[in-house]
Amino acid sequence: MIIPHSRPSIEAEDIRAAVEVLQSRQLAQGGQVEQFERGMAAYFGLPGGVAVTSGTVALEVALRAMGIGSGDEVILPSYVCAAPLLAIQRVGAIPRVVDIDLASFNMDPSAAQEARTSRTKALIVPHLFGLPADLTALERLGIPIIEDCAQTLGALEQGRPVGSIGLVTICSFYATKLLCAGEGGMLLSRDETLLEKARRLREYDETPSLHPSATNVKMTDCQAAIGLAQLGRLAAFIERRCSLAEEYRARLSGATLVQPIVPAGRTHTYYRFVVRLPNCAGATDGLSEVIARFEARGVHCRKPVFRSLHRYLDLDGFPSTDEAERTTLSIPLFPSLTDEEVAHIQVALRSEWP
Ligand SMILES: Cc1ncc(COP(=O)(O)O)c(C=O)c1O
Repeated sequence: MIIPHSRPSIEAEDIRAAVEVLQSRQLAQGGQVEQFERGMAAYFGLPGGVAVTSGTVALEVALRAMGIGSGDEVILPSYVCAAPLLAIQRVGAIPRVVDIDLASFNMDPSAAQEARTSRTKALIVPHLFGLPADLTALERLGIPIIEDCAQTLGALEQGRPVGSIGLVTICSFYATKLLCAGEGGMLLSRDETLLEKARRLREYDETPSLHPSATNVKMTDCQAAIGLAQLGRLAAFIERRCSLAEEYRARLSGATLVQPIVPAGRTHTYYRFVVRLPNCAGATDGLSEVIARFEARGVHCRKPVFRSLHRYLDLDGFPSTDEAERTTLSIPLFPSLTDEEVAHIQVALRSEWP
């Protein structure tokens, strides 16, 4: 048996929802997309959302709808996948990559403060691995915030749900995400004008005048129907994630590693269960060896971020991101793990950290 790092939760209701769309012959963006947008907006307590083809596209459309383009600067953390960086580059803006707070893996507000200039137009703030970034500190900078909720739904920061705080929120419905539709994304906002601009950008036709950046990035009704069916189970998914995290925490207490932290005033929804192995910091291949040992025991663990952004950009001076990249390990945690698989993971954890 090899336990994958991630596996979507697909149940009869997801399959039924997709089949009903196929039977209806209404496959392209239609009523299901509208309902999914309304469902997600209600989830965040926002007036509306605009469904698109991916989280990356949602970021790009958000930046364009905010009027961000050539010569503008956008701050983002280095420790995240390449999607936010690519979105900034695609609109012609300048990425200002900053270091993270190592304990929480999220953007360091003081680094963001240092990186701001008169040309800074936005912060892209990913909430990594299920833990909210320090939004309270970031809000004090007074820069418009795009909350990147691709990895975190349902968590709280000072009692406020993530995704309900920034000017714009983006989500991803990629196959391994908290809600999955295969692929897909959405941007949401309380600003109706911004939402209307975003709607015009995802559609190239049936518009009185041509918008130069408009394209076709629409979601299909089939994806939306699956997303909507999943949304109904989101609370149960999160509950299961938190209970699995507690089981792993108990198993790992006393092990020579750093467990996920939950800073005061925040809650964690464990999109990933990421531990830090400080002993791997010095060894070039330390982490790969740990991953290989888990693989041999039938558990597919991973580095949670493939390559930090400052390395793509050939920049130096990111000690916390470098340390995170050298020492973090993501252990499989997802709602569709069976009890037998959880027991198997526990055995593998015990073998690594007796
Ligand atoms: C933090 C973050 N932002 C954005 C994205 C991009 O989402 P998508 O894969 O739907 O384009 C991802 C996807 O992995 C992500 O983890």
